[in-house]
Amino acid sequence: MDEKYKNKERAVKGTNIIFKSLGKNDPIPYELLLLADPSKDLVDEYVKLSDIFIAMQNEETLGIIVLFPLTNEAVEIKNIAVKPEFQGQGIGSYLIKNVIKAASLNNQKSICIGTANSSVGQLYLYQKLGFEITEIRKNFFTENYSEPIYENGIQAKHMIVLTRELETN
Ligand code: ACO
Repeated sequence: MDEKYKNKERAVKGTNIIFKSLGKNDPIPYELLLLADPSKDLVDEYVKLSDIFIAMQNEETLGIIVLFPLTNEAVEIKNIAVKPEFQGQGIGSYLIKNVIKAASLNNQKSICIGTANSSVGQLYLYQKLGFEITEIRKNFFTENYSEPIYENGIQAKHMIVLTRELETN
């Protein structure tokens, strides 16, 4: 496991971090989006149809989360990323909890997220936040990315889709 996840401090609690929607004319922080998804072509395809939210502190963007509408009642988190120097401090959890709230308020019935079979920490995080494995897209990464991707010594081959049902108001 990455060192930063072993001895972490919870920076988010009690700080002035805010969650806000990225305006349509605001520049898109690609350096963050590409941390989660190395394909700029795929990123470009979904960002134009998505709602983008950011975590900000003192005018600095610390993290980003991208919500893509699948149907009228279901959304997908297509991308989530936190600046490397701020990872392991609760910002990823903060972003996910806030989009769960936003999707519920928007009368969505479910929210899903896809990650690689090799993304062990991410699979832990999403399940801890109430997402359950609902689908495996076999060979998604070997078929859609030109370069092989390795994490934790494991090749990213399949996409694991996890879903959380939402409470409607
Ligand atoms: N390895 C080990 N543990 C992890 C990892 C990881 N990569 N990511 C999160 N965790 C654990 C933390 O230890 C913590 O555990 P705890 O609640 O028991 O203390 C919990 O998950 C929450 O961690 P946060 O600090 O909230 O997570 P963080 O702010 O680091 O954000 C994120 C997580 C977004 C995955 C971040 O590490 C990141 O930007 N990684 C690079 C980009 C990436 O992989 N994005 C996801 C790709 S999938 C997609 O975008 C749909």
